[in-house]
Amino acid sequence: MSAIRFTLNGKEVEYAGSAADRLLDVLRNEFQCTSVKCGCKEGECGACSVLIDGVLYNSCCVAMGAVEGAGIVTMEGFRETERFAAIDKAFGELSAVQCGYCIPGMVLAVEALLSRNAHPSEDEIREGLSGNLCRCTGYNAIVNAVSNAAKEGNGLW
Ligand code: FES
Ligand code: FES
Repeated sequence: MSAIRFTLNGKEVEYAGSAADRLLDVLRNEFQCTSVKCGCKEGECGACSVLIDGVLYNSCCVAMGAVEGAGIVTMEGFRETERFAAIDKAFGELSAVQCGYCIPGMVLAVEALLSRNAHPSEDEIREGLSGNLCRCTGYNAIVNAVSNAAKEGNGLW
């Protein structure tokens, strides 16, 4: 069986294990991408969110065989970007982070949202983040932070 090749945070990598393995487990255990959190493992919480070719996916529901040739971004890569800096600043200023468990997935969901809609309404933000559960913060602070990130980061998306 040949290795599965893909790009992870801009680097070409390969995985020699089973095509049936979960992307979530492989990212955490083989590639030390521990920002990718394991919550429900059932596609419900969004803690394991990653970007695959720019689209948000729950990595617990993606088999390795599906990522051959794909470009995957986790927070380990995204945190190096100017767009992350704008989101990070807005979340910090509005105290939109508490325990932080949901935040890597939440931030990638924000990136996916703003990439397709740079000026979302409140309803569009709520819809864009509807797959990412937060057990601590309450969603109003997060929604306001996304709105501010979109305004302050105008031109980045
Ligand atoms: S761990 Fe993947 S959606 Fe919850
Ligand atoms: S900040 Fe704790 S789960 Fe979201």
